[in-house]
Amino acid sequence: MKTQTNYPKAVIVIFGATGDLAKRKLFPSIHQLYVNKQIGEEFAVVGVGRRDWSNEVFRSNVVKSVSSSEENQNLDDFISHFYYHSFDVNSSESYQELNKLLEQLEDTYNIPHNRMFYLAMAPEFFGTIATKLKHEGLTATDGWSRLIIEKPFGHDLPSAKELNDEIREAFTEDQIYRIDHYLGKQMVQNIEVIRFANALFEPLWNNRYISNIQITSSEFLGVEDRGRYYEKSGALRDMVQNHLLQMVALLAMEPPINLTTDEIRSEKVKAFRALRKVTKAEVDDYFVRGQYDSGTINGNVVPAYNEEQNVDKHSNTETFVAGKLLIDNFRWAGVPFFIRTGKRLAKKSTEIIVQFKDIPMNLYYGNGHSMHPNLLVIHIQPDEGITLHLNARKVDGSTFTAPIKLDYQNNNIDGMNTPEAYEKLINDCLNGDATNFTHWDEVALSWSFVDPISEAWAENKTLNPNYESGSMGPKESDALLEKEGFHWWTN
Ligand code: BG6
Repeated sequence: MKTQTNYPKAVIVIFGATGDLAKRKLFPSIHQLYVNKQIGEEFAVVGVGRRDWSNEVFRSNVVKSVSSSEENQNLDDFISHFYYHSFDVNSSESYQELNKLLEQLEDTYNIPHNRMFYLAMAPEFFGTIATKLKHEGLTATDGWSRLIIEKPFGHDLPSAKELNDEIREAFTEDQIYRIDHYLGKQMVQNIEVIRFANALFEPLWNNRYISNIQITSSEFLGVEDRGRYYEKSGALRDMVQNHLLQMVALLAMEPPINLTTDEIRSEKVKAFRALRKVTKAEVDDYFVRGQYDSGTINGNVVPAYNEEQNVDKHSNTETFVAGKLLIDNFRWAGVPFFIRTGKRLAKKSTEIIVQFKDIPMNLYYGNGHSMHPNLLVIHIQPDEGITLHLNARKVDGSTFTAPIKLDYQNNNIDGMNTPEAYEKLINDCLNGDATNFTHWDEVALSWSFVDPISEAWAENKTLNPNYESGSMGPKESDALLEKEGFHWWTN
């Protein structure tokens, strides 16, 4: 038995343990934390769900979900920490029984009454569960209690506020960990380091030297079996309100005075506040939406969005969004941040491209050759790294310049995959580090930015499939940049 004492010791209670997220992300992440010795033996995982499963059935499901990882020679020790509790969300008795089970496990595993409640399930139950956990005494221990919540956190500002008020009755802001899994990605966390640890970038990180910033998060996949959820969400709520705006905030924020959670969050909040609100009447000038038509991806013919399962034949839901964001502060006045995201696009990739301004005079110009602008590309996924596009002398001895690239690939250099986002976030929560989770103020500000856009689109129900699957979105997305004299960079 491992005896080291500084491991976090807690019971992890997963609501929605029979669901997809638990299977795909949570169990493998907890397993990795165990293998990497970031948790010791003093932990237990309680899977909570409506189904009437035994511990054995639950454990065999956990084994299946982690058995693709390489370190699965002996899962017996690991799996013995998993328990199942069949549960009715509304029944007080269910919570009391759960409490008894938690007390027992805390005894068995010598856990100082620390409890992490992970809500990996339909959001309509978030409020009820949080309130019941408090009322039935599950949070009144002499250890810590933390609540992790998956998105969607509301579908607009009023609903998010209502949900937040409900949760805040039971948990303080410090106890609430709102997941945005992009904040757990290695290269998203690296944005701050690239900016604030390099004398080369920070002095140039402003409207004097940067002409525009582009963030693209594209996916091959369509809506798959999530039609019911996606019909109500669309790409704006699914990706922009959270993941894309979080990346914008990290790129735009001022340097924090130190790296504490409060200081970083407060700088991000300031960046969100400076984000120029787009009124309903202006939406078409700033945003473009799209919906995928059928097409070919990797040689396979795929259906249009409105032919997918659980999707309305006349759906107006957007599966693609491109937008121009402006940040009204001294640093960024006049620099557009272009964002785009969509399903069924030509590739699966998330990338940030910082385009620097042209130098004042082009000495090498001639024959209609213009110089390639300097670009800093931050590869978030699938590659993790940075590329710097510079100009150098052309080998043929002419006076023209040739673009060259300096490349750093994180995953190639380390020779191993970086930790999965969920693994890092669960570990952070176990250690009480909320830096890479979203504070309520960030959530509220991002909804208030997004709401007028979704309202305008809801009122103007004229969306038809307008981009072929396997393309990079509708042509209006290109036009959005062209009218500013830019184009999307592809790498
Ligand atoms: C989720 C969205 O938050 O992010 C999904 O709900 C999307 O629709 C996913 O596919 C993308 O995440 P990643 O990590 O694959 O880029």
